[in-house]
Amino acid sequence: MSEPGLDPSEFLNPDVIPPDVELAELGKDVGAAADTPLEDINPANPHLFTSELWRDHFARLRAEDPVHFNEIESAGRYWSIMNYDDVRAIDGDWQNFSSAKGMTLGLRPTPENNSMFQRITPFISMDPPEHTAQRKTVRSIGAPGSVRNLESLVRERTVKVLESLPDGETFDWVETVSVELTTLLLATLFDFPMEDRRKLTRWSDVVFAVPRPGGVVETRLQKMEELLECLAYFERLWVERLENPGSDLVSMLAHGEATKDMEPLDHLGNLLLLIVGGNDTTRNTMTSSVYGLNKYPDQYDKLIADPGLISNLVPEIIRWQTPLTYMRRTANNDCEIGGKQIRKNDQILMWYLSANRDETVFDNADAIDLERHNADRHLSFGYGIHFCMGSRLAEMQLRVLWEEVLQRFERIEVQAEPERTFSAFVHGYTNLPVKVTRR
Ligand code: HEM
Repeated sequence: MSEPGLDPSEFLNPDVIPPDVELAELGKDVGAAADTPLEDINPANPHLFTSELWRDHFARLRAEDPVHFNEIESAGRYWSIMNYDDVRAIDGDWQNFSSAKGMTLGLRPTPENNSMFQRITPFISMDPPEHTAQRKTVRSIGAPGSVRNLESLVRERTVKVLESLPDGETFDWVETVSVELTTLLLATLFDFPMEDRRKLTRWSDVVFAVPRPGGVVETRLQKMEELLECLAYFERLWVERLENPGSDLVSMLAHGEATKDMEPLDHLGNLLLLIVGGNDTTRNTMTSSVYGLNKYPDQYDKLIADPGLISNLVPEIIRWQTPLTYMRRTANNDCEIGGKQIRKNDQILMWYLSANRDETVFDNADAIDLERHNADRHLSFGYGIHFCMGSRLAEMQLRVLWEEVLQRFERIEVQAEPERTFSAFVHGYTNLPVKVTRR
């Protein structure tokens, strides 16, 4: 079902190829970093992440070309920033590096390449003063008091999901635990009908899905139709909450000074931001904690011996996984970064995933180390005025999960390598087969 009056085909211009589609085609034959000419290395190639080749490609760029240039027809010119200090400096400088032209790789909309996607503008894709005003509307989601209030509910649900896991049988951790727990919390934050909560998971998956045969969505038209269905669903909630406000996110946006008068298609941006922000990221962190501890069994042993290490596990896993690989900015002026001449309007991808592997900041950065003294210096939540609003919520969910896991299970054992998300932006897993053994 679509929003009345909005026909998705009106927004579809077949002449515009989104960069992720072009990259999916161009990047198919990716090989080892050492065999690839430097100028052909492209950090935004989604195949690097399904094949796990990103580590070597990123390490080579950090060593040889930490401010790296690429240009493709659909996305134009873009620079990849690979070192910790440069990423942090750019993220902290909104006056020179704007968010207003998009948070992911892609060209600015023009009247000719009008598409629905380009009208969807969440406040993460704004600069002050608009950003400041809209961010304020939902600031309470991350406030320590709200997070504390939610903890007992999160624990209750975590226990219920963990108690229902089959003993000694292989099951998919992503679907059974990570997706279920993050979706339950998100439905609570939106006061979304519980029986429909998997719609939130679906819309979250669709937002950054690269349309391709056999993919999450097969065509751009299908993607738009599903997002319009999301909009129509939230419109109903919006109208309901205008009359009967609660303390949920829809009520906050429907009554917020800076957001209440927006057009329906325009507030879809903020809704999708909150859906994706609270869903993919935390889900992939939960899966990563199980996968990562199995990859470093000595660290898993340490954790079992000393559950007090959960407080270090949380930032260390968020660093190691880096669930969003990068955020984009756009240069407001000609400038120089690392000796490279950046032109006004060039896109700049701040690769958090690379910054978090920077050996000048994190020793033995590729490994999980539960005694790492500076894990909380990671940049996975960004830095500066757009710093993640859900960071405390995400940390609390991961902490509660491991507090309850350690009490119940001898071990969670990974049975096979995970399947990975086909994306250069969402760094995650679509499947992780595991077995649990109860105490
Ligand atoms: C491990 C989990 C998470 C990670 C890694 C993550 C990561 C990020 C990153 C990288 C940014 C952009 C920062 C920048 O541009 O400097 C961001 C912004 C944001 N995140 Fe998260 N996030 C997580 C969980 C959440 C949750 C649970 C929510 C909400 C329920 C959320 C809501 C938001 C919002 C609303 C913004 C936009 C802030 C702004 O533009 O001012 N995030 N997040």
